[in-house]
Amino acid sequence: ATVALLFGGRSAEHGISCVTAGGFLAAIDRDRYDVVAVGITRDGRLVLASDDPAHWQIEDGQAPEVPADGDEVLLPARVHRPGLRSELRVIRDGRVEHLADIDVVLPLLHGPYGEDGTVQGLLDLFDIPYVGSGVLASATCMDKAATKAALRTAGIPCARDVVVTEDAWAADAAGVAERIRRDLQLPWFVKPARAGSSIGVTRVADPAELDHAMKTAFAEDPKVLVEQGVVGREVECGVLQGAPGEGARTTAPGEVRIGDDLDFYDYESKYFGKGTVDIEVPAQLTGEQIAAVRAIASHAFAALGLEGLARVDTFVTADGQVLVNEVNTMPGFTPFSMFPVLWDHMGLSYPDLISELIELART
Ligand code: DAL
Ligand code: MG
Repeated sequence: ATVALLFGGRSAEHGISCVTAGGFLAAIDRDRYDVVAVGITRDGRLVLASDDPAHWQIEDGQAPEVPADGDEVLLPARVHRPGLRSELRVIRDGRVEHLADIDVVLPLLHGPYGEDGTVQGLLDLFDIPYVGSGVLASATCMDKAATKAALRTAGIPCARDVVVTEDAWAADAAGVAERIRRDLQLPWFVKPARAGSSIGVTRVADPAELDHAMKTAFAEDPKVLVEQGVVGREVECGVLQGAPGEGARTTAPGEVRIGDDLDFYDYESKYFGKGTVDIEVPAQLTGEQIAAVRAIASHAFAALGLEGLARVDTFVTADGQVLVNEVNTMPGFTPFSMFPVLWDHMGLSYPDLISELIELART
């Protein structure tokens, strides 16, 4: 089969998406799949990109970027007909040429305009199979407020929060701050509703820091969540869609442990080596705690209507409660990311994990 990798994109996680693509390009079984690498530039142009994984790594503290001068790739301008594959075309020297017939798209995009249902809707429109969740589940999980509303409806606990729009903050910052102080205990985590990799997130230990934290988050999204910090361990669970009629498959969870030199697991510590971070797989939890995390991850997958894959990020508190922090419909596949490591620990190697995702999309 021929697969098209889509990566980069218009979100602030552009570079991380490129590194995720690098992970896929290094691990995908090339005897089984022909690969077409399609980058999306920061301003949203689809271009033919390198399929050499070495091209898509963090180097000298810089994340890679899809070059703007690549040959432009055209998506099919018709609905895919049964039995026919979807044709990708490319513009070379001003002429439209056949590029490849593809069977499946892998939208390896993180953040808005990719992980949020937009690309999924486009692919649905052309009836092109793709890896991962559909429009509604992708859109819901991209928005932390929508995710928590859906999870709470399903009886899954989440951290307390207050949602603040940029307009509301502009109209009455003092009143909103008062409400936050009344409703939430410190510390607070101020987060853009629709972003990832902790971009725009600030930990606030003193209410005097709130205004700056809000502005940092509003730079990413006019909708912001202020959450009450949870005292607990940061535990992540990998999920794959189950066989028809069966529940989702989950991994033994892993834990992110940060040193005292870090405030929290932020963007720089996730990918650029800031501070002390230990990724422990499997997490050293009791059998009961492990079962609780896996049950909640599987429940969240079903409640949110997820497909293909997800990484469910939780907090496990000292008294054994499991709260869901967020759900990632296209978790990172970078060398620093937990998801492929979790599945490898379960006996599903990185190449087999990719094959599994592609075959799930084809059925
Ligand atoms: N948003 C990043 C890629 C993750 O959740 O792994
Ligand atoms: Mg995330």
